[in-house]
Amino acid sequence: MDMADILKGAKTIVTLIIIFTLIVAIATIFDLPGYLATDTEQLSADNATSKALIVYDPGIMGMGLRTAYWMGEDLRTRGYDVNLSGIRSGDIENATGYEVVIVIGPTYFGGPTGPISAYLKQVQTKPGARVGVYAVSGLLGDDASREMRKVLEDRSVIVKSAGSVSAWDRGAEEKSYAFIFSMME
Ligand SMILES: Cc1cc2nc3c(=O)[nH]c(=O)nc-3n(C[C@H](O)[C@H](O)[C@H](O)COP(=O)(O)O)c2cc1C
Repeated sequence: MDMADILKGAKTIVTLIIIFTLIVAIATIFDLPGYLATDTEQLSADNATSKALIVYDPGIMGMGLRTAYWMGEDLRTRGYDVNLSGIRSGDIENATGYEVVIVIGPTYFGGPTGPISAYLKQVQTKPGARVGVYAVSGLLGDDASREMRKVLEDRSVIVKSAGSVSAWDRGAEEKSYAFIFSMME
């Protein structure tokens, strides 16, 4: 292999890295995973007496979605019928039929994604409902849940719990159960 081949190989690798970085940046800036999150899934409890809504923006790596499942399963075992809904699901506009409402999303550029902010600015919950916000962050450790909480409190919505987890945290599953515990206190 001569020098020209090595340079050609290096150029190809750099080009691929630039393309990959651009794709991730565009997907993040426009929150493409959020726009594709249109599903609602139901987790039904035996003899359920209460209902919970978990709204998630999945994020690029899907940590928001995984967190939603962990929390949803925990709530189901506590006797809640749970709706797990993507941030673009048609079922989330009116949240007044739920005793528990939790909104989960990633932290990009220090804050929540556009669809999550827009949702928090107008979601209607019933008086006395337990409302919580939860953010997934990266190595920088920024916490979008502070801003999520503020958006709700500026509208006089009482937030029972605000929490966050790093996507790198090996105890992420346990943290999501601890968050549900804090919501139930
Ligand atoms: C373009 C971009 C910007 C990000 N900005 C931040 C940031 O400001 N603070 C932070 O703690 N993490 C940041 N992260 C890391 C994400 O919060 C982290 O990847 C988290 O797991 C989000 O969920 P996801 O990986 O499923 O997209 C950023 C990630 C990307 C791709």
